[in-house]
Amino acid sequence: MAINVANQFGSPTWTEQKLTILEQYLKRYTTALKNQDFHLTYVDAFAGTGFVNPNVAAPQGNEFSWGESLDVSSRDVLVGSTRRAIAVADKPFDTLIFVEQNANHAAELQRIRAEYPSRDVRIEQSDANAFLQTWCDTQNRILGVPWNRSGDRQRAVVFLDPFATQVYWRTVAAIASTESIDLWILFPLSALTRILPRDREPDEAWANRLDEFYGGDEWRTLYQTRILPTLFGDEAEIVRADQRAIAQVYLDKLGTIFPHVSDSPKWFLNSRNSPLFAFMFAASNPGRGGQIALRIANHLLDRW
Ligand SMILES: C[S@@+](CC[C@H](N)C(=O)[O-])C[C@H]1O[C@@H](n2cnc3c(N)ncnc32)[C@H](O)[C@@H]1O
Repeated sequence: MAINVANQFGSPTWTEQKLTILEQYLKRYTTALKNQDFHLTYVDAFAGTGFVNPNVAAPQGNEFSWGESLDVSSRDVLVGSTRRAIAVADKPFDTLIFVEQNANHAAELQRIRAEYPSRDVRIEQSDANAFLQTWCDTQNRILGVPWNRSGDRQRAVVFLDPFATQVYWRTVAAIASTESIDLWILFPLSALTRILPRDREPDEAWANRLDEFYGGDEWRTLYQTRILPTLFGDEAEIVRADQRAIAQVYLDKLGTIFPHVSDSPKWFLNSRNSPLFAFMFAASNPGRGGQIALRIANHLLDRW
């Protein structure tokens, strides 16, 4: 079987780890809610094509190479997040929403829908931020209160798997406001490391982008001024904190809007042991459901 679009990024080990953690979480989460009368939705907001070839380097920026045929029988190709989610079997998701900006990728996702004709699968060719903000806010508005407090029996898992800094803080805040969604987010550490120079603060255009990404200027706490005594008097030098601190600022901020956040994300490293991504989990349900979700996520983050 071949598909038209090759979705190629990441290195085998960490892409596989990421997908395994997600898949295991989806299985355990749905099984934990099996005997409760919830409508369960899975939203894959950077959905891809359904298959992943992690052996080719990640695209630069938002560029994407394609036009090649991806032989999905090749042992290099992994089953992607959308296909793993739809295959959860013990207690299948009631609704699956696949959001994908790229038209060719969205067309590949239609194949999944065709393969599972009895399932409620929505494919949204849209920007993840625009879709999620509207979706979360509409649900809150229809219900008049966060989903969780409405008596409406809805729960959801959202997976955000961007290449770089595409996710706006407003989107993450909209997810938290529902009090009903669990969030897995791949934090793009290597992209941010490029944006945040080590010896000076970023210029204004990047600073604005960072404000949108972090939802404020907390990232500025990464920079400190050091005074260096020299022969000609003291000189001030600006230094940025280390890479893991870049993710920690975000993790701390997640803790201000989500009642439950895994405090040990999974660090995905390159061959020189530098962190490329941090895989983070947050649950928005303030009650027991959120605690159970956090326990499952912590166990998986620790194990893989
Ligand atoms: C890392 S891939 C997703 C892989 C997928 N999670 C999997 O495991 O199969 C990221 C995808 O997000 C899409 N994308 C990039 N920016 C987007 C945006 N702003 N909104 C929605 N999709 C976007 C890209 O076209 C690409 O297919």
